[in-house]
Amino acid sequence: MEMQTGLFKSNLVKSKKKGGETMKKIFMLTALAVLLAVPAMAAIKNTRHNLGNTGDYTYRTTSETTQVCIFCHTPHNPTQNVPIWNRNNPAGGFKMYTGSPTITVAAKGDLAADSISRFCLSCHDGVTSLINVRNKASETMTTDKYVNRGAGSRTNIGGGALADLTNDHPVNINYDIVQAADPYFRLPADALANGVRFFKSSKGAGANFVECASCHDPHGAGHKRFLRKSNDSSSLCLTCHTK
Ligand code: HEC
Ligand code: HEC
Ligand code: HEC
Ligand code: HEC
Repeated sequence: MEMQTGLFKSNLVKSKKKGGETMKKIFMLTALAVLLAVPAMAAIKNTRHNLGNTGDYTYRTTSETTQVCIFCHTPHNPTQNVPIWNRNNPAGGFKMYTGSPTITVAAKGDLAADSISRFCLSCHDGVTSLINVRNKASETMTTDKYVNRGAGSRTNIGGGALADLTNDHPVNINYDIVQAADPYFRLPADALANGVRFFKSSKGAGANFVECASCHDPHGAGHKRFLRKSNDSSSLCLTCHTK
């Protein structure tokens, strides 16, 4: 961040010196930034999270030829009210990242039913069918190919039947408590301002929890692996950690 502030300052200094020409450049850059800031939703169709027949990747249904959101959301009668979730989530029993001798706050026991991380694991646990949704677009969805990924898939995070998160970056962690106790973390407001997200948890109302979607945007944020920001030079990691 220090570096970025420095850049902005030097831009301002230059613009004062050179006047019109630089102002024009700044204007064009601003216009470009506005163009690039299109809503994330616009991109989801072209990502691996488009499981409809309009998708370009291996794991997609053949029967669902129009809709994109339905694999995750439904307008009515959801399985979880927020975010009007259409999937039947896996049962509990997640093994959390708890073995660390250096961790400040152990990951909270199991994932709650309304945990964002559980939502992701409803496809990434390696066992739940990708079309295990409450409201299907058509009955033929159940006969589709590619609705299950092999247990050995690189995108299988949970590791099979007893969803194993012991070898994944901790989730279900109360960031406020960690940050208050450990000097090597940025203030929650700073982390938020720099592109990650925190989530409320029914296990700790009002708190800033680190979940899968703190680092990833399932709608595709324009960075590879659905990351909320680029991790070049570990910049994603350094948004929270100050190591
Ligand atoms: C692969 C699953 C998936 C698909 C497909 C998906 N979403 Fe989401 N969506 C999520 C998850 C998980 C959350 C909660 C986490 C978050 O907000 O990032 C969410 C949250 C949201 C939210 C509320 C929070 C926010 O970030 O604004 C909106 C609105 C939304 N989705 C709209 C859509 C629309 C519209 C589509 C289809 C064009 C869509 N989603 C497709 C998984 C998905
Ligand atoms: C509806 C099912 C579904 C849900 C829900 C879902 N994913 Fe995915 N995700 C997939 C599929 C299918 C792929 C592609 C798998 C493959 O190619 O091996 C994928 C791929 C990914 C990838 C790899 C992308 C790449 O470019 O290689 C990441 C990262 C990812 N998902 C993260 C998440 C996160 C985080 C959440 C929750 C916020 C989530 N997913 C929710 C189905 C889902
Ligand atoms: C602290 C940040 C962070 C959290 C939390 C996080 N991830 Fe990731 N994840 C990453 C980064 C960074 C990568 C990209 C790694 C790479 O490209 O080398 C990634 C990669 C992935 C991939 C692609 C794996 C591959 O080998 O291609 C999937 C799938 C995924 N994450 C799903 C999840 C799920 C599900 C959760 C929650 C259980 C989660 N992530 C939590 C940062 C995170
Ligand atoms: C959204 C904030 C956030 C981001 C982004 C983030 N982390 Fe973390 N990380 C945490 C929190 C909170 C913990 C729990 C730490 C604790 O209690 O001591 C943690 C724990 C860890 C641990 C385990 C520490 C231990 O003592 O066992 C490692 C290692 C780690 N993170 C590395 C990374 C890496 C590498 C990245 C980038 C890919 C990253 N983190 C991105 C918040 C974050």
